[in-house]
Amino acid sequence: MKTNEIRKKFLNFQIKNKHKTIPSSSIVPINDPTTLFVGSGMQPLIPYLFGKEHPCGKRISNSQKSFRSGDIEEIGDNRHTTFFEMLGNWSFGDYFKKEQIQNFFTFLTSKEEGINLDPKRLYVTVFSGSEKYNIPKDSESVDIWKNCFLSAGIITDVQEIISEENGDKVGMEDGKHIFFYNSEKNWWSRCGTPETMPSGELGGPDSEVFYDFGKENTDKNYYHLKPHPNTESGRFLEIGNSVFMEYVKENNSFKKLKNKNVDFGGGLERLAMVAQNKTDIFLIDIFENAIEVLGGINIYKNNLKSCRIILDHLRASIFIISSGVLPSNTDKGYILRRLLRRLIYHLQYTLNNFSILPKLVLSLISEYKNTYKELDGKNIIKIIEEEAKKFLEVIEKGTSKFEDMYNKKRVITAKDAFELFTTFGFPFDVTQDLSEKKKFKIDKNEFLSLMKKHKEISKKGITAKFKSGLSGDEREVVCYHTATHLLHQALKDVLGNNVTQKGSNITKERLRFDFSFDRKLTNEEKMEIEDLVNKKIKNSIKVDFVSLPLDEAKKTKALHNFDDKYPDIVTVYSIGDYSCEFCSGPHVKNTSELGVFKIKKEESISAGIRRIKGILL
Ligand code: SER
Repeated sequence: MKTNEIRKKFLNFQIKNKHKTIPSSSIVPINDPTTLFVGSGMQPLIPYLFGKEHPCGKRISNSQKSFRSGDIEEIGDNRHTTFFEMLGNWSFGDYFKKEQIQNFFTFLTSKEEGINLDPKRLYVTVFSGSEKYNIPKDSESVDIWKNCFLSAGIITDVQEIISEENGDKVGMEDGKHIFFYNSEKNWWSRCGTPETMPSGELGGPDSEVFYDFGKENTDKNYYHLKPHPNTESGRFLEIGNSVFMEYVKENNSFKKLKNKNVDFGGGLERLAMVAQNKTDIFLIDIFENAIEVLGGINIYKNNLKSCRIILDHLRASIFIISSGVLPSNTDKGYILRRLLRRLIYHLQYTLNNFSILPKLVLSLISEYKNTYKELDGKNIIKIIEEEAKKFLEVIEKGTSKFEDMYNKKRVITAKDAFELFTTFGFPFDVTQDLSEKKKFKIDKNEFLSLMKKHKEISKKGITAKFKSGLSGDEREVVCYHTATHLLHQALKDVLGNNVTQKGSNITKERLRFDFSFDRKLTNEEKMEIEDLVNKKIKNSIKVDFVSLPLDEAKKTKALHNFDDKYPDIVTVYSIGDYSCEFCSGPHVKNTSELGVFKIKKEESISAGIRRIKGILL
């Protein structure tokens, strides 16, 4: 059954069960500044889950275009995509657990009404309760599931599995299809578990359905563990989630919402995987033509990770561009830019075939032309080609130097990689990638040791440049002060202007910078931040300061903490045009004194606050 048929069948099934079909909302949220993209079907429906009356009634359903930027790094495996369609149905205070569970089971297993899955391959999970928050174990759902299985001739009991780790030891007993898990696994809110949810957020216990692809599909890292459905073992795939949305968190306790709601979501592409018996999401029908354009199944299999990145990122970019976003350096535009640049890189440098881009775009669009009329191939191709022009220029300079070096010596050494890095900002990964294609390996340890030496030399340079009587240690602290200002601005440039400083601490060994941001940084973001700081260092920018009356200083664009108390006269430090901040210093006189900046660690220190530790080499 094709993906387009499954979408249609689901919506018709819901119509039969008295649901009104609503169109997918834009992938760009409207009136919701808290997220960049819509990542689930319920997101545009939050007011109705809180009790507002929906104009279409209490039962609605749709297929929602969704995008999860947090999954960008996951792309390359067999089941994750950044863009996906989420089939959904909702009850706003109408039916609850019984009707929801029975209906979804029917949709999954019925040949006439649904997608005809073998019920023996289905495993379901339910919430084991939370003593801390006084939320009961969901025995009601267990009984409903038992009856569903019974109606299909399967007698099943329940298996207690509390957490994933515990599950790996307990495993599943033969014949059991229903599993209890704790709130790490069987509670759904937009912000995680009952513990991590902020006050005012809604959530509830959920019941997930998993499909068993069979023992033989277990990932080898899981061979030594006992199988159970809610793992990443490769054997099981989550195909639907019914959230019983009846709670709102208020001051660290849970209150009942006005209505008992159902929020069901199931990934369309994942349902297509199981209906088409494919363990690889990129092998479902919707990508078939695009794989042909890439060169066929053998090319796909021989360049698996790159091809998956291309297919995923291109499809996501098509939908993001169609919602009016353009590539840029902030917010949504930046996410789009990252997707585009990764896919351009893999098309140009892994498949050596950037020219197939227009065909590839059109082949993907053709799968959606009857469902999403807004996809304008010509415009999308133009925007991607413009981005490619900019990006390829940057990468081509470095590549051409790489080729020169290679042609002279037929090899690229760690020393060459080091030179490419320090003079062109050419990322080591790319050098490595290009080298692998030429069938040699660069000694990473040697590269790192050159970087270390470089660090010592630049330290000496710093020492020589400071004739002000500062001790060696003090000099380093001063360098880290200036690097902190560059980092602060670079974070804003790469992650968006909403990033604000939440703390800073400097020792002679490192800088530590805390800032507001709500998720882990990706490797690419970290690299982009480092590159930006290093570019500013390399540009030898003069560092200046002026002292101004506080009122005057506040009128400038200088960054400062709005809540802090400042003296009547403040010092404003600027690094060329790039950075401008209230600060009492001291700073270096020129950024060239700093060496090479490197992020050593990036972590969360509390909700919405990240910490970077950085060093100067
Ligand atoms: N909101 C739930 C999810 O995203 C169910 O739709 O999984």
